[in-house]
Amino acid sequence: MAEIVGGIGTSHIPGIGAAVDKGKTQEPIWKNLFDHYEPAREWLAELAPDVAIVVFNDHASAFSMQLIPTFAIGVADTFLPADEGYGRRKVPAAQGAPELAWHLTERLILDGFDMTIANEMDIDHGCTVPLSIGCDQPDEWPFAIIPLCVNVIQYPPPTGARCLALGQALQRAVASWEGDERIVVFGTGGMSHQLQGERAGLVNADFDTAFLDGLTADPDGVAAIDHVEYLRDAGSEGIELVMWMVMRGALGDNATERYRHYQVAAASNTAAGLIVLEPA
Ligand code: DHB
Ligand code: FE
Repeated sequence: MAEIVGGIGTSHIPGIGAAVDKGKTQEPIWKNLFDHYEPAREWLAELAPDVAIVVFNDHASAFSMQLIPTFAIGVADTFLPADEGYGRRKVPAAQGAPELAWHLTERLILDGFDMTIANEMDIDHGCTVPLSIGCDQPDEWPFAIIPLCVNVIQYPPPTGARCLALGQALQRAVASWEGDERIVVFGTGGMSHQLQGERAGLVNADFDTAFLDGLTADPDGVAAIDHVEYLRDAGSEGIELVMWMVMRGALGDNATERYRHYQVAAASNTAAGLIVLEPA
């Protein structure tokens, strides 16, 4: 039986990926942040999962405004880093796990989650930056990768409660797979941030801290945060935190926090958060 053995929630700030790519992680402005990623990297290396399901939002890279799937799962052999205007990031291509991904797709759809099936999909910073945060700069990513996209670009995105339920369905789907893969789930995006408009630069550390506390102990409470609350309290891009709800749901009713880091500044004018969870 395959099994979900861990979860990581992390911001996917593009500047973090650029710092890795340009060899700047030890420069004074970045060092503190990357030092705090070290325990998560060690945890992931020790866990040595076979597969990562990376739940993220596409930022109009693979999909355009012409086609906006609410939930899309990648079933391809390979996923290339997207060209987001500066060429493709020079990170490894993600090797997929097509047989497992097709099984998950079937189980999720039969369980009531009408996934869009992506046979070809470039992965943007929402996916590749968390991989750099977790693994630094390997020649190949140390696990197969199943990308799972959630629309938070175009209103209306799915609710946090729906995303928690998707994660719970994902755990059931994994448990019904005959292989023995050990799987880690990434939930990426957030935390509080607003990239545009009058409130650009908004950060709400109280909201983010309450979110991190509740994610482990009270996922139903956190899942009840509605769109207006995200917008008001966490800024226009704070809604990206619903991806973390998918990750949390996939860990089951009880989870244990292994590590967290929260920091404002350096990376961007946004809040960089990281949490490492294990099923209890
Ligand atoms: C930033 C954060 C994001 O989630 C994103 O998609 C783009 C930029 C930022 O903090 O700069
Ligand atoms: Fe984003």
